[in-house]
Parts: sequence; structure tokens; C-alpha cells
Amino acid sequence: MKILVLNGPNLNMLGIREPGIYGSETYRDLLEKIAAHAQTRGVSVDFFQSNHEGALVDRIQEAYGNTDGIVINPGAYTHTSIALLDAVKAVGIPTVEVHISNVARREPFRSVSYIRAACVGSIIGHGTDGYLEAMDLLIERSHEK
Ligand code: DQA
Repeated sequence: MKILVLNGPNLNMLGIREPGIYGSETYRDLLEKIAAHAQTRGVSVDFFQSNHEGALVDRIQEAYGNTDGIVINPGAYTHTSIALLDAVKAVGIPTVEVHISNVARREPFRSVSYIRAACVGSIIGHGTDGYLEAMDLLIERSHEK
């Protein structure tokens, strides 16, 4: 099984950006944690981070036909991007949305998620462990089929 882990804008700043909200783990720490988890689960994992909406759309399209699941934290594009919603719908790859912080308990604009409508699950407010939970959800789902 091959899982693509996508991160949107400012997630490359993990560990530096608002540590009170997003914690002190860096983006590199996150990738290492996900890679280690993937190994224990026997799945392969690809990573992509961009601050650009179109680059994220391109990467989702590139996953078509070669990827079994997507874990995506779209960052602020969660709350604005119909293009990301459409990209996930277009490729039809099971996708789980992740948010490190509890977006439901922050500013009201963070409660809106466009991409959620195309996702098989959402893991919200579990810190970076949410990425691992999202992977497990995709793996379990693939075993059900
Ligand atoms: C985030 C929440 C978003 O509102 C924010 O814009 C982010 C990160 C999270 O992981 O909690 O960049 O997706």
C-alpha cells in the first residue's frame, strides 16, 4: 500500500510557528515519525509540502493511478480551497483530512472545511499523532475491501 502525505502552507514552519498551538516538533521530526510508523505498518509513504495551492493540486493529480490513500493537512487552504476539494474528488483516492490543532475550538472561519466533503475521515486536534491515526484509518479501510 502506498500513502501520500500532503502538507499545505506554513506546515514547513512546524516547531517555529505558534508552538503553543502546533507544538515544538519540526516538520522534519514529523516526517521521521510518519516514516517510522509506515515501516511498522508495512506501507510505503511519499511526502509533499507546498505553500502553493496549484502545486498541491498538481501533486494530487500526479497521485492518480499510483497511490492508495492520501493524508492531507491543507493548512489554511482547508478553509478556502474548492480547487483542492475538486482535485481529491477528481482522483477518487481515499483521503483523510488532518488538523494538528482543534480547528473547531478556534476562530469561526477555521470551522469551515471545503475538503472535508471529499474525505473518508477527519482527524482533528490530536497533534501530530493525527497523521498516524489517519494512516491507520486508510490502512484499516483497505483491509475491509
Ligand atoms: C491547521 C489549522 C489551520 O486552520 C491552519 O491554517 C493551519 C494548520 C492545523 O493543522 O491545525 O495551517 O490545518
